[in-house]
Amino acid sequence: MNIQVVHDYGQLCDAAAYIIASQVITKPDSVIGTASGGTVLGVYSKLVDLYEQGLVDFSSVKIFNNDEFQGLDKEHTQSRFNLLSANLIDRININPDNFHIPKGTAKEDFPECKRYEKSIDAAGGVDLQILGIGVNGHIGFNEPSDFFAPYTYLADLNETTREANVRFFGHISKVPQKAYSVGVGTIMRARKIILVAEGEWKAQAIKAMIQKRVTPQLPASILQFHGNVTVIIDEKAASML
Ligand code: GLP
Repeated sequence: MNIQVVHDYGQLCDAAAYIIASQVITKPDSVIGTASGGTVLGVYSKLVDLYEQGLVDFSSVKIFNNDEFQGLDKEHTQSRFNLLSANLIDRININPDNFHIPKGTAKEDFPECKRYEKSIDAAGGVDLQILGIGVNGHIGFNEPSDFFAPYTYLADLNETTREANVRFFGHISKVPQKAYSVGVGTIMRARKIILVAEGEWKAQAIKAMIQKRVTPQLPASILQFHGNVTVIIDEKAASML
């Protein structure tokens, strides 16, 4: 794992955006895996800046988002589709048909998971996977559990994660119980991974991810077994290393 400690969130977003932009400049038809959540939004904003400056062209890029809440359709204000569209997809020159995300309102979950996983394979797999990390060490919506999910699946959200999302839904009763998520296996098949985290509240998860034993009870710890991971964290998130 390549650990980059930066001074603040602004430097974190710059560092991550430059890595992503370099990937697209080097391989214009890159397949990028995106994360949802709050930390990555500043990274996407910096990417949009680089696009607006004419420094990066997304016209041949494919994007696969990590997750989508079950039961939310694309129009729902808190869908991950909306979050990515508003913060990245609608602000760059990606072909909208090249933005992929699980269908939150799929009638049956297993066929939708298979469809999504096969679409990633059909695209040639992920060149660069972007990750945040939950306070409980989740990646995507892979929550602490007794197994590493090999493929895209419908995950149960635990209370820590649901509480962390109340800020977006207003009340805990409105936060979905389940979400479609790429599996840990899906993430590990990416050729490169970058993970971003900021703030004291992530310090424990970052320490466990890097220094503790690999266990599905701390899903992000699996990244110790990946050969090309860059972790970009601010000084507060690095404070327990
Ligand atoms: C969310 C998302 C993850 C995200 C993580 C951290 O639940 N499913 O993709 O990385 O939690 O979110 P944040 O960056 O807002 O702390």
